[in-house]
Parts: sequence; C-alpha cells; structure tokens
Amino acid sequence: VKNVINQNYQEPAPVRPIVLGFSQLGSESAWRNANTMSIREAAEEAGIELRFENADQSQSKQFEAVRSFIKQKVDVIAIAPVIESGWEPILKEVKQAGIPLIMLDRLANVSDPSLYVTYIGSDFYEEGRKAGKYVIDKMSSKKDNIGIVELVGTEGSTPSIARGKGFRDVIKNHTNLKILKSEPADFTFEQGKQVMKSFLTKMGSDIRVLYSHNDDMALGAIEAIEEYGLRPGKDIIIISVDGTNKAFEKMAQGKINSVVECNPLLGPNLMQAVNELIQGRSLPKRIVTPESVFTETMAEAEVGKRKY
Ligand code: AHR
Repeated sequence: VKNVINQNYQEPAPVRPIVLGFSQLGSESAWRNANTMSIREAAEEAGIELRFENADQSQSKQFEAVRSFIKQKVDVIAIAPVIESGWEPILKEVKQAGIPLIMLDRLANVSDPSLYVTYIGSDFYEEGRKAGKYVIDKMSSKKDNIGIVELVGTEGSTPSIARGKGFRDVIKNHTNLKILKSEPADFTFEQGKQVMKSFLTKMGSDIRVLYSHNDDMALGAIEAIEEYGLRPGKDIIIISVDGTNKAFEKMAQGKINSVVECNPLLGPNLMQAVNELIQGRSLPKRIVTPESVFTETMAEAEVGKRKY
C-alpha cells in the first residue's frame, strides 16, 4: 500500500474553550459567597473559561464589567443584577454585540424580553409566601394583635421586592398580623444588627415576629435582640430566608424558628445553559431551582450537612 500525501489537508483549528463573562453583584452574604464558589467550581469542571468580576453591590461597576466583556468579545455574558431598574441601555449594547445574555439569581426589569435568553434562579415570590404561611401557622392560636418587623434586603432588588410581596399577599386576610416597620438592611449582618437595634429602641416588646429577607441580617438581628435583653426565637419569633449552616446552628439552638430555603448552588445550571446555548439549542425563558422550608424540629438533623 502506497502512502498518499493529501496536499489539501489542513490541521484542524485548535478547540478553544467557551469564554463566559460573569458579573457577580457582590459578596454581601454567605449565600453570595457560596454562589460565587459554585460558579467557579462548575466552570472549571465544565472546561469553560470564566472571566469573573465582583461589583461590590454597585450597579455602575456592573456596567463597567459588562462593557469590558463586550470589548473582550466573550462568547456568553451572565449577570446577577444588584437591582432591577436601569439595565435596558446596557443590555441593548450586549444585544448589538451579538453576545447571548443570561440572567442569574436576580432579574433586570426590561420592557424587551429578547434582551436576555433565560433567567436562572429561585422563585422569590414563593419564598415570601412560604414565610407568610409559617407566621400564620405559628401564630394561629393567638387572637391579639401580632407586631411584625421586616428586614428587607437591598432596596429595588428582585428578592426584596418579591419576598416582600409574597409575604404580604399571604398574610393580608389575617388582620391581627400587623407589619409595624419594614426597612432595608442590604442583606448584610452589620446592617441587620443596626436596623434591628433601631426597631427595638422604637418598638421594644411590641415586636413579636421578625421576618428577615436573609440569614445574614437575621444573625445580626439575633445579636441586637440579645443585647436588648430579649430571647430570639421565644420573645421574638424569627423567620429567615436562605438556609445557611450558621442559620441552621441558630435554629438548632431555638434562636431562629424557621428558614425558607434559597439555593445559591447555581453553577451547574449556568454551565449547562452556556453549553446548550453554544450548541445552538433553545432554552426555556425561566429556569427555577426547587427549594424547601425548614423548622426547628428538623434543624438538628440538618446542621453540618448543608453545603453553604
Ligand atoms: O439574591 C439572593 C439573595 O441575595 C440571598 O437571599 C441573599 O442572602 C443574597 O445576598
């Protein structure tokens, strides 16, 4: 057999990894750090090159990151938007550059839904409803007025808007459940503690329930309640959202009564969506992560098993 040399043969172009630009909104909470970790790990596992920018809760830093991803000609852009408003112009720039865009965790409020391909994340409205249902059940034997305070996350962010609305929609027909005060504390431990302190100074033991939009703020509030001389979980019923290990520890000690789960481990879903997009498949407009509710009786068994 003669060796025939094919003159037209060309070396195949080297296969380059998919490049994903991700604008993370910040590192304000344990949830956020677990979310970042999940994305980094999943990118590595999937062989996707991740260009990661942390915006420290600043929308203008997110804009800078997105513009630099456009300049770098990344294959896909993903954004976890700090707040919902103000995104339309920059998302138009992304569309003009022909780069597909994925919303992760939070949503941007845009009039043209073709500006993003899919939105991957939790159903925050449902989380608020679950928190409201817990309060109704827990307080069902009480006929007197129950004063509730609410620690809201970042003002104008998707979870703050939807968790607040879901909660109100569920409790609205229970006229003895009264929201005394509702204030933003930016999803952080420090602000949770500070705002709870001011609630206690103004309303003291009129506060019977604390609804906190995340665990970090609830943990800060627990310190404020103890310093004020009341017992968290007993004098003040506490319901929080996320399901971090630290919150489970407090729940096992009876200092938090219930936690509505919000899953930060979105890395694998994001990488799958990126791969499918690059292969030309179409994605559902909304990808929702399944989540549970936990109460004190389950806490002991769960502590230490949580991945975040
Ligand atoms: O967007 C998800 C929320 O953001 C989490 O509940 C909170 O902990 C985080 O900061």
